[in-house]
Amino acid sequence: MSKRILSGITPSSEKGLHLGNFLGAVTPHLEFQGQGECFYFIANLHALNNVFDPEQVQNNTLNIFIEYLAFGLDPQKTTFYIQSDIPAIPYLQTILNNAVTVAELQRMHAYKDKLQNDVSQDAINFGLFSYPVLMSADILLFKPDIIPVGEDQTQHVEICRDIARSFNTRYGNVLKVPELYVKKDVARVPGIDGKRKMSKSLGNDIPIFADEQIVKKQIMAITTDPARIHPTDPGNPEKNVAFSFMRLLEYNTIKSDTMPTLEDMEERYRSGTIGDVEIKKTLFTVFMERFSEIRKKKEELKHNMDYIIELRKKGAIRANEIAEKTIEEVKAAVGVL
Ligand code: TYM
Repeated sequence: MSKRILSGITPSSEKGLHLGNFLGAVTPHLEFQGQGECFYFIANLHALNNVFDPEQVQNNTLNIFIEYLAFGLDPQKTTFYIQSDIPAIPYLQTILNNAVTVAELQRMHAYKDKLQNDVSQDAINFGLFSYPVLMSADILLFKPDIIPVGEDQTQHVEICRDIARSFNTRYGNVLKVPELYVKKDVARVPGIDGKRKMSKSLGNDIPIFADEQIVKKQIMAITTDPARIHPTDPGNPEKNVAFSFMRLLEYNTIKSDTMPTLEDMEERYRSGTIGDVEIKKTLFTVFMERFSEIRKKKEELKHNMDYIIELRKKGAIRANEIAEKTIEEVKAAVGVL
């Protein structure tokens, strides 16, 4: 039987998807499209714990919906929907609240990180605290086999697996315990600072669909080998994140014939015969080239909102059919049918 694959993305930034999302999530998601029955969705209820402007929530949600389509998500092959169109998700969350302890949620990194940033426990909203329970509902409702995510989401998927096991221990074998899938090389794409993971909230991202000038500004701000003061100083390519991005983007396969190979540039970097500016400009050129068709496709889709709204409705109908079946089973199992 073919495997069922499920994953989601939170529309928490007006800048849309960045290179980390693309490499760590979108690319594996699209690869799975040919291999199984895929369920992908925009997690707009998740965004509510930090985006409080309703118009922004609305716009970000449709924006990312369109971006996913521009990347090549095929709505014929994949059930593609928006989380808030599936009423059984928050219903299941309410039931699953009883299958997890406060102690387990307190161990969550996202919560602990917030506490570390000098935010007092009293100021953290419950939406953030119960985030993994909502995410568990997203997942368990569809009984998927595989959850492909980047490394930052692995703990949430582990909590989901624990919740499913606790529920099943109490009520019988109702929920499926899914497997986690993290693609190794792209599990944690670094930000332009080269230290932390690329993240919209940290501002260290390279947004794929932003104005060319913004993309350029971010690329030109990439951290390079700090020991190198002049372009003639020998440098260590490992310490220049621009090279990592080139490798992840498979630079050699997309560069034009007149451009140097990655190995050439690394060699010249080591010997101090190439400047950081030239490397970054080269990265900018291939970045724009790599995403130019996709950026065009997004512009086209944006002008076809009737089609987008129709897809949204179709996706919701397909997803709700499955979601309603599971929620009935869960309600029967706990005694609230
Ligand atoms: P989100 O929106 O933060 O990220 C979406 C996906 O992109 C991956 N990702 C990265 N991968 C590699 N390197 C990076 N720098 C990087 N930054 C982001 C994330 O790991 C993720 O796969 N809670 C989730 C969305 C969600 C979900 C779900 C996912 C809600 N319900 C159910 C799976 C199943 C989130 O906020 O992802």
